Amino acid sequence: MEETVKFIKGKICGRQPEIGVILGSGLGELADEYCDIAIPYNDIPNFIKSTVKGHKGRLVFSDIAGKQVVMMQGRNHFYEGHTIQEITYPVKIMKKLGVKFLILTNAAGGINESFRPGDLMIISDHINCIGTNPLIGRNDDSLGERFPDMTEVYKKDLIELAESCAKELEIPVKKGVYLANSGPSYETPAEIRMARIFGADAVGMSTVPEAIVANYCGMNVLGISCISNTASSTGGATLSHSEVIETADKVKKSFKNLILKIIQKIN
Ligand code: HPA
Repeated sequence: MEETVKFIKGKICGRQPEIGVILGSGLGELADEYCDIAIPYNDIPNFIKSTVKGHKGRLVFSDIAGKQVVMMQGRNHFYEGHTIQEITYPVKIMKKLGVKFLILTNAAGGINESFRPGDLMIISDHINCIGTNPLIGRNDDSLGERFPDMTEVYKKDLIELAESCAKELEIPVKKGVYLANSGPSYETPAEIRMARIFGADAVGMSTVPEAIVANYCGMNVLGISCISNTASSTGGATLSHSEVIETADKVKKSFKNLILKIIQKIN
């Protein structure tokens, strides 16, 4: 981590980002528009590169509304074959760079029957069905404790802030529980019925590992899902990655405005 942090600090001219944003599938435009310094993951010692279409793979630093922000334009996923510890490494680096607030975003399938493709959902809590945990291994006491509490991973005041920003912008938002599977296969109808019984409102293949690590490190986490499709529940329509990207593309403007407003108001 020392090597990674030293390399990044050498590139960012004394900046100290206080807000981190991880941009999900099709939602990376914010980092194109607000980009002062960009460092490709490939150049960063000990980082892994992103391999999925629709994910760019660079760390972007910018000043947004007077706030220092670091954005991950594209994330690494467990299904790419990386370990869960590797995919959450950037969160630890953000912590070491001084990030206090982490905004996690993703594209997700809607499980709640009132959700429609294109809806935005503020994450109230999560269910980890990935089958492993990013904190497995020797504990680094400089980051957090061995058995971290997870009663409020997604901070109530940040949820309220996101809701009030959405209201101000007249963007309708839902709120709900995000369930993470490893992927890369989408769910079967039976798995979605199970997830609904579990209490999940949306399903995806990311976010939960990063949220666990960020909470463990003492960061304030906010999560927002773009509901890109109806999760396979009726067995009717089939699902493709291009559909996920297409929906994300349609809502990216309101999504971006919401994130910008939140960044402006967060403190
Ligand atoms: N399932 C899992 N991950 C997803 C989905 C889905 O339906 N949509 C976008 N990411």
